[in-house]
Amino acid sequence: MHSLETTYIGLTLKNPIVVSSSGLTSSVSKIVAMEQAGAGAVVLKSLFEEQILQEAGSLEISHDYPEASDYIRAYTKANSVGEYLSLIKEAKAKVSIPVIASINCFSSSEWIGFARQIEAAGADALEVNVFFLPVDNNKPGSFYEQTYLELAEKLRSAIKIPIVFKLGNHFTNVLWIIRELYFRKINGVVLFNRFYEPDIDINKIKMVSSEVFSHASDLRSSLRWVALSANKVPNMSIAASTGIHTGEAVIKMLLAGASATQVCSAVYKGGPGAITKMVEILGKWMDEQGYKTIDEFRGKLSYANISDPAAYERSQFMRYFSNME
Ligand SMILES: Cc1cc2nc3c(=O)[nH]c(=O)nc-3n(C[C@H](O)[C@H](O)[C@H](O)COP(=O)(O)O)c2cc1C
Repeated sequence: MHSLETTYIGLTLKNPIVVSSSGLTSSVSKIVAMEQAGAGAVVLKSLFEEQILQEAGSLEISHDYPEASDYIRAYTKANSVGEYLSLIKEAKAKVSIPVIASINCFSSSEWIGFARQIEAAGADALEVNVFFLPVDNNKPGSFYEQTYLELAEKLRSAIKIPIVFKLGNHFTNVLWIIRELYFRKINGVVLFNRFYEPDIDINKIKMVSSEVFSHASDLRSSLRWVALSANKVPNMSIAASTGIHTGEAVIKMLLAGASATQVCSAVYKGGPGAITKMVEILGKWMDEQGYKTIDEFRGKLSYANISDPAAYERSQFMRYFSNME
């Protein structure tokens, strides 16, 4: 008989499949459904900086984009910080899987106070959904990197529960960022978030939203970086995210060295049953391969363990281009 148990940021999960921060975890009934489908943990939808600023009475909304401003006003009114804290408390009372809260921040430090309230409400951990869009060509990359690290320091000094940074894949050296976060006692990173990307409608000549959901092939960028970062620093958990649509994808990420795998688009598309299927496939594969625990194979194909690490270093298609006339 196999055990699917995994340790992630110091928490014991019954299996490594975690529902990502999104509308999938925006109510207690949805969270219960995720647990019943077999999820190992849930990350609550993010508490957005706009909600926090609204609560603090310092929300300034740009008047340049009336549609966006109306949306932000309506959203912050309907989703107060108080409701978020109630969601944590009620979810904790109803489910036995870990409940990880999430905050989104891009500029202010108001949210440090709210992080304390999130901890007091009983969240098992806090995921920080953070992205500083570098739009200023006067500032070097190091300026933005430093901002992440300052956030990590402030947050760590404010709360004791495990903290995870959910990162985008835009760093010049993501391995350095992970190491620096570790030095600031951050417990894990999620590689990677998938951000809203703008697109252009060439018929209406206006900005539109690009596709919201990922494709299964989007897994590959995360796969490389999970493999490269696994076991680089001790006790730093790596959660894989983006493009994990099947049980097979979960297995790949564990082989690359992930402690947990986060799923979102697959559950939006397939319902909570998608989680049940992933759990089944993982268990069946372990039985076929003769593995009793995840630790027996986790990281077997990570950069540190693979016999040909160059497989992860290869970044050019030279061999393929030369065969493709
Ligand atoms: C509809 C939707 C809402 C999301 N909301 C959040 C959010 O509130 N906070 C967050 O950190 N990520 C959010 N995300 C990103 C997901 O958590 C996840 O990182 C991303 O979709 C990549 O995973 P996937 O390929 O499994 O979809 C959202 C994604 C979707 C599709």
